[in-house]
Amino acid sequence: MSTGSKMVFLEEGGGRSSLPAEPNVLLLVSGGIAAYKIPELVREFRREGAHVRCAMTESAKEFVSPLVLQTLSGEAVRISLLEPSEEGDIGHIDLADWADVVVVAPATANLMAKQALGIADDLVTTVLLATTAPIVLAPAMNVNMWENTSTIKNVKVLKERGVVFVGPEAGDLACGWQGMGRMSEASDIFRAAYGFHAPGSLKGERILVTAGGTREPIDPVRSLTNRSSGKMGYAVAKEAIRRGADVVLISAPTSLSAPEGVSLVAVETALEMRTAVKAEFEKSSALVMAAAVADFRPAVSETRKIKKEQVEGDTINLKLLRNPDILAEVSAIKNNRVVVGFAAESHNLVAAARKKIKSKGCDLLVANDISRSDAGFESDTNAVVFITPDGSIEELPLQTKQEVAGNILDRIKKLRLTR
Ligand code: C5P
Repeated sequence: MSTGSKMVFLEEGGGRSSLPAEPNVLLLVSGGIAAYKIPELVREFRREGAHVRCAMTESAKEFVSPLVLQTLSGEAVRISLLEPSEEGDIGHIDLADWADVVVVAPATANLMAKQALGIADDLVTTVLLATTAPIVLAPAMNVNMWENTSTIKNVKVLKERGVVFVGPEAGDLACGWQGMGRMSEASDIFRAAYGFHAPGSLKGERILVTAGGTREPIDPVRSLTNRSSGKMGYAVAKEAIRRGADVVLISAPTSLSAPEGVSLVAVETALEMRTAVKAEFEKSSALVMAAAVADFRPAVSETRKIKKEQVEGDTINLKLLRNPDILAEVSAIKNNRVVVGFAAESHNLVAAARKKIKSKGCDLLVANDISRSDAGFESDTNAVVFITPDGSIEELPLQTKQEVAGNILDRIKKLRLTR
């Protein structure tokens, strides 16, 4: 199961009133001056109907009163790992399992260092190691601490593991310095933690999706094409709409009808798809390149049907030209846009996909094994592996294409939050 998959707050098509359950938010507080903002964060979560439990480090007690957090959350605050009365109430593993999302705010440099190393020497770090819930981290520290190579390295490690960072922001710091290090406002931390899967969670994002197999004409009746039902790309477009994004779907021919709410741009050939992608890319925050783009096109597309009688003997020579690699071209100019590519492989899936993500330069590659009968092409299910530029992988179980689409959009959301 991918990170974040526990936090499904709303049923498909449901509104706020149809929340199936109130999410469990575990708030871990470490010792920084920014802890004074935590009571407001607890109130934000509670206002939205979340159950909140707080745990804090020993030093955090110096910055915010456990009694305040206890009163606002309505739950006892946990501090000690070894205190029998605290463990009796809810054990540390139960606490880690209870959470639908874990929020660490403020996250000190020390806490992030321990988390990056997997140290578990108090309640907060132990819970962080034990939880499988998505983790949202709001750092707060002096600018020099934030810019220290150790911290930079730890942040990188944690981001690679899928931890979502909110902030820090630039501004006046409590220590008297100016620069990066202020903890984000409670409302921003709340949005990052709460709204992952919910309808509206991609509000403000403009997502460009390509789908279908391009068709490269030989003459008016014949063409070269790639096998593709278009189902994966259409599922991404549909799920992105459900989450509140503006969606432009650039589609090569398929037998599917466009999901309600998308702007459809119909294309046939790879060159037309490239023109359409380039026209839309700059205005978009993410591109999901699910189309099966033909790598070659006939050098000449006859305007009249080639008659059999015109062909001498039993063979015909078709000269092909290489099509531009749209994914590689746009990845080279993506800046902070998120670009996702696909790879259909019949053997050595992971090795081939690792090579491909390097050559394409995208942020995420979704690789599927086309030798399986329950995945890829016409199927409604897909078994995919996510590959990131550093070569790390996440193998997803067999899921519906809609669920795979959701996981892709979770990744996009996380990447957008960390840019
Ligand atoms: O190189 P390959 O065709 O395996 O790469 C697959 C990925 O690259 C898909 O995301 C596909 O949409 C994209 N692609 C492209 N332009 C091409 C060929 C593939 O954008 N000419």
